[in-house]
Amino acid sequence: METKILKENQVAEAAKIIADGGLVAFPTETVYGLGADALNAEAVAKVYEAKGRPSDNPMIVHIARASDIGQLTPMLSSTIVALIDNFWPGPLTLVVKRKDGVPDRTTGGLDTVGVRMPDSKLALELINRAGCPIAAPSANLSGKPSPTRVQDVIEDLNGKVDAILEGPDCRVGIESTVLDVTGDVPTILRPGVITAEHIEAAIGRKVAIDPALHIDPTAEESDEEFAPKSPGMKYKHYAPKADMTIIEGSRDRVQAEIQRLKVLNERLGNKVGVILFEEQAFIEAAHDFFANLRDLDREGVDLILAGALSDTDGVGFAVMNRMLKSAGYNIVRV
Ligand code: TXA
Ligand code: MG
Repeated sequence: METKILKENQVAEAAKIIADGGLVAFPTETVYGLGADALNAEAVAKVYEAKGRPSDNPMIVHIARASDIGQLTPMLSSTIVALIDNFWPGPLTLVVKRKDGVPDRTTGGLDTVGVRMPDSKLALELINRAGCPIAAPSANLSGKPSPTRVQDVIEDLNGKVDAILEGPDCRVGIESTVLDVTGDVPTILRPGVITAEHIEAAIGRKVAIDPALHIDPTAEESDEEFAPKSPGMKYKHYAPKADMTIIEGSRDRVQAEIQRLKVLNERLGNKVGVILFEEQAFIEAAHDFFANLRDLDREGVDLILAGALSDTDGVGFAVMNRMLKSAGYNIVRV
């Protein structure tokens, strides 16, 4: 298949492809998404195929007006309305009960659906012009780091989708916070730059964190009981080609250990890449993390040494969630 690379001023052409049941990768403020008409099961099936994605993994449905959520869910509680008022457009996905019209293909057969209104102008224009909600997972091949720049999308999906809509690099750099609001207590299924603290301040209620987020799934004692409620969280994710190890500890020790391991490995003929963010610079870390992984893979490094971020619940925690998966939970404490 020939993939068209479309510029911002060709958004109408991109929208027509979506409306006609085709696939278009497009930028959002978080990461690039691979979009299809969310209400067209055949179109959505093609997304799974292009990404090589397991078909029980549900997709996020993107809308251009907050009021369009009514097409997808029968019930809007006051909590949901407060969340929409405070955080949309923006990087917060709400998992809500779904209406019958939302295909099983889109929700992975669940009776809920994840919905968000992105705040990227280009994404909003695409959705508006397509005239339908757009189902979009991140626009990477399944298992690879999420794409935050058009060249990352081209690398993964050229020849596999109808078009790639080129926009600016993504502002946030990690995917949206996924919040389940179907139960008594709103629960974070995937952390993002909108944190539990932000959400609690907006709704005046406690928010829970899916316990699976604190568990190493590769550990022997890890238990079925803690299987993540967000199906996508259970798959191998974000993995660079290189071997990756996280070094955790005080700043000085981490720096020293990274330097020591780097010298040691280089002496043995390995090409080593380092990811070490400034202390407390969590927003920058979110912005750069996936891009760094992809750049190091392009440089052909054999080993990536990454410094852990010291944050247990904020934006740094969201970045650590991705870093741990990228490294297959391979962590050295110093
Ligand atoms: O920022 C983002 O969310 C990006 C951009 C493109 O919007 N999209 C994205 O999609 O990250 P994806 O498919 O890579 O990740 C969606 C996550 C998965 O972990 C999936 O399991 C979860 O959201 N999810 C979607 N619908 C769900 C539902 N009904 N119940 C539970 N989890 C759901
Ligand atoms: Mg993804």
